Amino acid sequence: MAGLENEKRFTILSKQSLHIPFEIVEAASLPADEQDLLRAAFEAAKGAFAPYSGFHVGCSLLLEDGEIISGNNQENVAYPSGLCAERTALFYAGSIGKAAKIRKIAIRAASLTIDVNQPPTSCGACRQVMVEYEKRAEQPFVVLMQGARGDVLRLNGVKNCLMPFSFDIEI
Ligand code: THU
Repeated sequence: MAGLENEKRFTILSKQSLHIPFEIVEAASLPADEQDLLRAAFEAAKGAFAPYSGFHVGCSLLLEDGEIISGNNQENVAYPSGLCAERTALFYAGSIGKAAKIRKIAIRAASLTIDVNQPPTSCGACRQVMVEYEKRAEQPFVVLMQGARGDVLRLNGVKNCLMPFSFDIEI
C-alpha cells in the first residue's frame, strides 16, 4: 500500500487463541446446592440498595462447609462510590476470614422496571476481584449467573472462563 513501504514488520513469535467453555443450563436441572445458592442470591438481590439504577443484584458464595454468604449492590448518590454485589459479598467473606473456603458463586439480577431474563455477566472490576479470591481458594470456582428468571450461565473457573489476562504480580 502506498506510503507503507518503510513500515517495520513485526515478528510474530507464536499465534495462540483461547477456548472458553460455558454451559447454558435449565435452572431446575441443577444440583440442589446450586439451586439453593441461586435462590439465596435472588433473596440477596431483594436487599440491594439501588435507587439510582433500579437494577438489583445479589451474589451468594457457597463455602466448603455448606455455609452461604451473600451480598448485594450498594449504590451511593456519588455514583462511583457504590459497590457491586459480587465485591460486597467477596470482601465480606474476606473480612471474616473465609476467603479460602469459597467454592461456588451465584449472581442474580432483578429490576422493577425491566424484565431481566438474561444472566448478569459481572463487570470487569468484579471479575478481577473474583480471580484473586479464586487464587486464594486454590481451586476453580463454579460460577452461576441468572436473571430474575430464565436459564443459567454456568462456568467452571473464573480465571479460565471469565477473566483470562487478569492483572497479577508475584508477591
Ligand atoms: N452491578 C452489580 O452489582 N454487579 C455487576 O457485575 C454489574 C453491575 C450493579 C452496580 C449498580 O449498582 C447496578 O448494578 C447498575 O449498574
